[in-house]
Amino acid sequence: MTEYKILIDGIEQGFLQAANDTLLQGALRAGIGFPYECSSGGCGSCKFELIEGEVDNLWPEAAGLTERDRRKNRLLACQCRAKSALKIKVNTSSEYRPLTPPQRRHAKLVETHDITHDIREFRFVTETSADFQAGQYALLFIPGVAAPRAYSMSNTGNPNGEWHFQIRLVPGGKASASLFHTLKLGDEIDLDGPFGIAYLRKDVARDIICVAGGSGLAPMISIARGASENGMLQNRQLHFFYGARTPDDVCGESMLNELPEAGGNLRYHAVVSQTDAANQTPWNGETGFVHDMVRRVIGAEMPKYEFYFAGPPPMTQALQEMLMLEYRVPFEQIHFDRYF
Ligand code: FES
Repeated sequence: MTEYKILIDGIEQGFLQAANDTLLQGALRAGIGFPYECSSGGCGSCKFELIEGEVDNLWPEAAGLTERDRRKNRLLACQCRAKSALKIKVNTSSEYRPLTPPQRRHAKLVETHDITHDIREFRFVTETSADFQAGQYALLFIPGVAAPRAYSMSNTGNPNGEWHFQIRLVPGGKASASLFHTLKLGDEIDLDGPFGIAYLRKDVARDIICVAGGSGLAPMISIARGASENGMLQNRQLHFFYGARTPDDVCGESMLNELPEAGGNLRYHAVVSQTDAANQTPWNGETGFVHDMVRRVIGAEMPKYEFYFAGPPPMTQALQEMLMLEYRVPFEQIHFDRYF
């Protein structure tokens, strides 16, 4: 297979990018700390400057680039493939260095079950072990969908090759429609991973807060399961907040109840933002936005916690602002991957 040699200005370690990989995938497979978050062209974290050589730009209009970036000839590594040897400029950093370099492999769909009216769990199995950190994601290559889609795992790394995803059926969404309506048990697709830097920090002694909204459920369930499996909840508390739109969307508690620390060091809090929709389950619980619920429960204690969150951009934005501006929680204690 054709491979292109990529040199990074100012550092000695270069890497080879296979012709069907993006520049970002090539760098991460080589164990390089190339900055990134979403792998999908939305966040802009993987910007680089092309000094020499030619690339194929898979998505020139990607939202992760501003007009200024385009004027300055900046490109997104998750949306570019080398067409020749390259020299590029980017600030690599050890925080992005993958603990397990991602690999592309075949994955067979072996089981599905519904979690809510529009979230379903899909379980895939690969021949090689599923080595990933709690909270990471993989790219799924779904038949009929041009670009791979990023979905977080809800289970934890395991030697059996099991990858569990909890995916929301997005109205008008091609990828989720194909998964829900076309893919059958026994079908195989390609899976590339693991990716993501918002994974469980096992060596941090602080209590933990997980905040999930919508299909951000999966990585937060994975973090809670990982914390339990690693014995972290024997001497730490974990507060799990789930922000749902309507009472029919509330989920996650039954999965957490399977963990031995549920009700003790592990606490679940659900909050619903819309309580007036027709034909919905009655709701007597908390109402409002999930970041306000976190404020009500944790308040001034906020800087003592390690935060993980995943959900729609307005939710992650509101949380980030509240934590950093209102409560001065240090940035190193906040972990989330931006999805778009
Ligand atoms: S835009 Fe490339 S990682 Fe987000």
